[in-house]
Amino acid sequence: MSDFLLILNRKKRLVFREIEEYLQSFSFYPDYCRVAKRRFPLVSFHRQIVSDYPRRQGKYVRPTLLLLTTQAMGFSQKKALKTAAAMQISEDWLLIHDDIEDGSLSRRGKPTLHQLYGEELAINAGDALHILMWKILADNFPLVGYKKALAVEDEFYRMLGRTALGQTVEIKWTQENRLDLKDSDIFFILDGKTSYYTIAGPMRLGAILAGASEGQLNLLYQFGQYLGRCFQIRDDLLDLTSDFSGLKKQQGNDIYEGKRTIMLAHLLRSAKGEDRKNLLEILAKERDEKSKKEVFGVIEMMKKYGSFAYGEELAKKLAQKARDFFERNLGFLAKEPARSQIKTGIDFILERKY
Ligand code: IPE
Ligand code: IPE
Ligand code: MG
Ligand code: MG
Repeated sequence: MSDFLLILNRKKRLVFREIEEYLQSFSFYPDYCRVAKRRFPLVSFHRQIVSDYPRRQGKYVRPTLLLLTTQAMGFSQKKALKTAAAMQISEDWLLIHDDIEDGSLSRRGKPTLHQLYGEELAINAGDALHILMWKILADNFPLVGYKKALAVEDEFYRMLGRTALGQTVEIKWTQENRLDLKDSDIFFILDGKTSYYTIAGPMRLGAILAGASEGQLNLLYQFGQYLGRCFQIRDDLLDLTSDFSGLKKQQGNDIYEGKRTIMLAHLLRSAKGEDRKNLLEILAKERDEKSKKEVFGVIEMMKKYGSFAYGEELAKKLAQKARDFFERNLGFLAKEPARSQIKTGIDFILERKY
């Protein structure tokens, strides 16, 4: 197992313990609004749906980066655990809603929440987790003090606001079946839905807890753009070429969804003649109208026109830019072993298999 995978699993144990406590004590109604005993099975059912994605766990890249950044700046990991737990809970509610938006079938090796319970209940479970996230952040006040807890909340507001804008742009351009997107357009999607939320935000949150300056936070934002773009390109390559080490049922899910990726934009620029005609016909279809043969036909076309190689190369370049930027500008992440551990995270993000 890679070094970073060991670190992820170690941090996951710590953060999940915090999350599990919140899931078990999540008060769905205050004592003064009495609920009759015979309604208890419904409350348990609600708790089960709400806890489902958090208990599937995922990789914990975001809370891990948050904790490593705070440690690299000399702050206490223990005091950062609530912020890390809120970070992971944000991932869980975002993914419940994202899976509905994308019509996805599986998540973390199991059917998506809306496949299991229907869209209405899944949306509602996402809302409940969203509320839990703000509760955890409110509990930060006595733990880290007013000033830092407020700055952390403000960062969540900015980070998640940016993420929602990214989702809007991606969904809108997919709905419009945009065929003319340049790499810079795709980066606008990725910077919105992934870079801030996956890399810059978590690292900035860890740094805020450690008392970072505005200048240092800006540098983390820039670093996050390189590594965040790399993260999403790898994600999109895995979607087209693998089953996420058995965690996803459907290879080529993004083509069914019509998702605008670097590889698709490259193919749209490169495919000629009959290939281009076929590609446009497939893209114009709704998800359910696309056959497996057609989806794999697009994947074959991507191979033929070098779209995968193009994405691979771009992901490698972005990881290298992230490494260079880290060495040149992020000297303030000084404490070992956290500093070196963050560096192994760059390689993990580039080379991961799921
Ligand atoms: C999935 O993120 C959402 C994206 C931005 C691609 P992860 O790959 O980190 O998902 P989990 O939390 O580990 O399952
Ligand atoms: C999810 O992005 C991004 C957020 C939830 C903010 P994707 O839709 O690209 O990720 P997957 O492929 O479903 O994991
Ligand atoms: Mg999705
Ligand atoms: Mg999506």
